[in-house]
Amino acid sequence: MCGIVGYIGGNQATPILLNGLEKLEYRGYDSAGVAVYHNNAVNVVKSKGRLKNLCDLLEQDQSVTGTLGIGHTRWATHGEPSDINSHPHSSEHGTFVVVHNGIIENYLYLRDYLIGEGKHFTSETDTEVIAQLLEYYYNGNILDTIIKILSKITGAYALGIICKDNPDTLYAIRKDSPLIVGLGKNENFIASDIPAIIDKTRNIYRLNDNEIALIKRDGVAVYNTAKEIITKNKVYIDWDITAAEKDGYKHFMLKEIMEQPKAVHNTISPRLINGQVVLDELKLSEQDLKKLNKIVIVACGSAYHVGVVAKYAIEKVVRIPVEIDIASEFRYRDPIIDEHVLVLVISQSGETADTLAALRESKKLGARVLSIVNVVGSSIANESDDVLYTWAGPEISVATTKAYSTQLSMVYMLVLYMADMLGTISKQEYQTYITDLEKLPVLIEKTISDTKSIQAVASKYFQYENIFFIGRNIDYALSLEGSLKLKEISYIHSEAYAAGELKHGSISLIEDGTLVVALATYEALFDKMMSNIKEVKARGATVLSLTTEDKIMIESETDEIFYIPKINSMMLPSLAVLPLQLFAYYIANHRDCDIDKPRNLAKSVTVE
Ligand code: M6R
Repeated sequence: MCGIVGYIGGNQATPILLNGLEKLEYRGYDSAGVAVYHNNAVNVVKSKGRLKNLCDLLEQDQSVTGTLGIGHTRWATHGEPSDINSHPHSSEHGTFVVVHNGIIENYLYLRDYLIGEGKHFTSETDTEVIAQLLEYYYNGNILDTIIKILSKITGAYALGIICKDNPDTLYAIRKDSPLIVGLGKNENFIASDIPAIIDKTRNIYRLNDNEIALIKRDGVAVYNTAKEIITKNKVYIDWDITAAEKDGYKHFMLKEIMEQPKAVHNTISPRLINGQVVLDELKLSEQDLKKLNKIVIVACGSAYHVGVVAKYAIEKVVRIPVEIDIASEFRYRDPIIDEHVLVLVISQSGETADTLAALRESKKLGARVLSIVNVVGSSIANESDDVLYTWAGPEISVATTKAYSTQLSMVYMLVLYMADMLGTISKQEYQTYITDLEKLPVLIEKTISDTKSIQAVASKYFQYENIFFIGRNIDYALSLEGSLKLKEISYIHSEAYAAGELKHGSISLIEDGTLVVALATYEALFDKMMSNIKEVKARGATVLSLTTEDKIMIESETDEIFYIPKINSMMLPSLAVLPLQLFAYYIANHRDCDIDKPRNLAKSVTVE
């Protein structure tokens, strides 16, 4: 999604803005721009396409000098990707210049109103309305004017604003879209995401909804919309800076795949104490658990796929009924939720707009919300009743890998915690699971240590244009993830099916040479999967199977095979997903795709 960076200080703003925007490229974008205050005017340079185009323009245009500036990478929503629709946007007479993440939902109404009042618009964007509104209501007091327009706009926004009448201040506001203020020495910053400024400062303020920051070179004042000063807590970001660097890998995705043993270890080990899962951060008591009549899981994309695994695991081990929903569906389906429901929200970024809205809807209906989140202090974490943080570290690649794996391991711990509390598991079973949990990082390491066979298979099939994934039970949950991973980074059309459902329609798509990836790790349904493999082979499919290392009998039925180590069935997805991630990665690499920044995609989907 869009990225924001802003600077005020004693140095030239443009290189700082470009450096920040480069760090935000991973979020996905289609155009970029900067605005810098200079000699009583705010100069704007912007361009469709990659940051390189903007840099080329800036090299020719030396007027963009100055020590106060804002920059933006745009992911188009309102209006096609074009030079004109790129941010920053200026008001008609150039009094205000704005960068914006989010969507102004009532922009058409406001635009019509302003046109009726004689304003001229140049772009098709919702953002331009903000700049024009500011100028329209401007009475010489910038803070008052900002507060005034906030009462006029609806929707989600993170905003960086410069007013040509005040070269000493950068203005920042947020509602439902993340924004931080970076605190430097005689210089300050704003950014939509930490990587944009982490090489400049590690001290930040996280802005909350409806807070307005007035940022000067030597200080920051934060107000609410009643013009009262808010005291903010400084947060120190202790990320390892190399986490946001490729560290010798060709792509962040491969680096992050290889970081999974460590990420899973970091997530599990602080919570495994003397052979017991200890979730000190949970306030959910035994009584709370006992009064639940169902758990509802809500998430998007890969986080939703973790939820599908969680449904199988919770129902099997904890024996509480589980519903699972895609967040964008849940929020509008009038769900049956009350105080006897626990809503489990899963999100890497903690900022996904639909997931956040589903959380709010659930709370409104009286449910308790427990979230599994990677980004500390994110909106979903802040608004949940309980938070379990995954310790994946920053994930840069748009395609999630290590966050998915840490979410899975958090799910296993939650399952064991609940099952132990409710007595739905014997002491012996509990101990077996704990032993496997302890071994998980090492088994992950083992599974990803040899990528040669996966590379060889990828080099054979990378030109295919249709690939199917099939599986049953947790293997079906994995099929969803394997298929998403492949399509999002390689652009190969791919579908995932519950294997037993094939003959109800989709098997008609199988013809000579169609590649079917058959997931057969779940022991209880292995024989059923063998039958499904035979069915597709009989119709000409080429089959790539994924199974555990003890199932060598599959070899006679399949063309290609990936083996994973054996572990209890609940934790199998943690190992089985690894060859699928690598398969997708090497296929996309062969196809020369932009793996870390696939077309049309964004890392954190902060708009609906
Ligand atoms: O930040 P979140 O976990 O809430 O994001 C959810 C999805 O947007 C995300 O998992 C997406 O599907 C990934 N690109 C998949 O690799």
